[in-house]
Amino acid sequence: METLLMCTPEGFAVDYEINPWMKNQAGRVSSALAAAQWRALFDQLSALAEVRLMTGDRAWPDLVFTANAGLPLPLDRKFILSNFRHPQRQGEKAIDRAWFEAAGWTCVELPAAAVFEGAGDALFDARGRLWLGGGPRSTDATPGCLADHVDAPIHRLTLVDPAFYHLDTCFCPLPGGAALYLPTAFDAASRQLLEREFGDALIALTPEEGRLFCANAVCADRTVLMNRATPRLQALLAALGFALRETPWSEFMKAGGSAKCLTLSLDGWVYEALPTAMPARREDGDKTGRGTRRTAQTAPRRAVHD
Ligand code: ARG
Repeated sequence: METLLMCTPEGFAVDYEINPWMKNQAGRVSSALAAAQWRALFDQLSALAEVRLMTGDRAWPDLVFTANAGLPLPLDRKFILSNFRHPQRQGEKAIDRAWFEAAGWTCVELPAAAVFEGAGDALFDARGRLWLGGGPRSTDATPGCLADHVDAPIHRLTLVDPAFYHLDTCFCPLPGGAALYLPTAFDAASRQLLEREFGDALIALTPEEGRLFCANAVCADRTVLMNRATPRLQALLAALGFALRETPWSEFMKAGGSAKCLTLSLDGWVYEALPTAMPARREDGDKTGRGTRRTAQTAPRRAVHD
């Protein structure tokens, strides 16, 4: 069973503006409604996966978005800590470090020049490729620094719409190989890269679906949890064999987050392709990687622990 990390919502609020969703929302979050919406996600996920918890902290209201804590590498039991761009979130790092160290993970620090916001900007797909979003948050230095630790092909994607500031707000790889994406959130080269690499398995979201945060979905045990879907997307997901649960996360959307941001996968399907598919992927990459902004992975394969 997959393990996911969530953070209890008692410290959650909008106290500042670091993305367009937060504009004029300071003080407008209903704590009671946020607690109920968080609980709905926790209850649904608990039926599909094992959910671990970290405790919220009123001093760091965005701590609830555990996707941004860092990038877990469960095969090595290593955790790459985030280097948050905005001072308003930088204090989360010590809390994240303490939780992961207590849970037996080895925490890795990236150089300070590498701004990195964890699984918000770093998503594995079903073939074990790591997709990195950059622009609003992660910097140009980040992919190279991650490549020192991650034994997987790395592809960079440039985000151009400030409303879709993290990769997980506009791109959602799914188990089985499909991926949802919001075309307008990417520059032309990134769109072409996604189209080339995913082919027919790439599902373009409409602007309305983008605004509904359909890409910020979390998938556990073939069930997709999403804020709201359109009838078109409901049908597409059903055709792919996914069950869909729609639940409003309006209070968290005031901070620019939804289901996916509120979770961090500590193992599970996102990592399944890593240990076995590596040689085949390398060959594929060599043949099809022309002109991609791929960072070569030369590190030796690491042994599978756990
Ligand atoms: N207010 C938070 C921020 O702007 C929201 C983070 C949402 N997390 C995510 N993985 N997209 O950083």
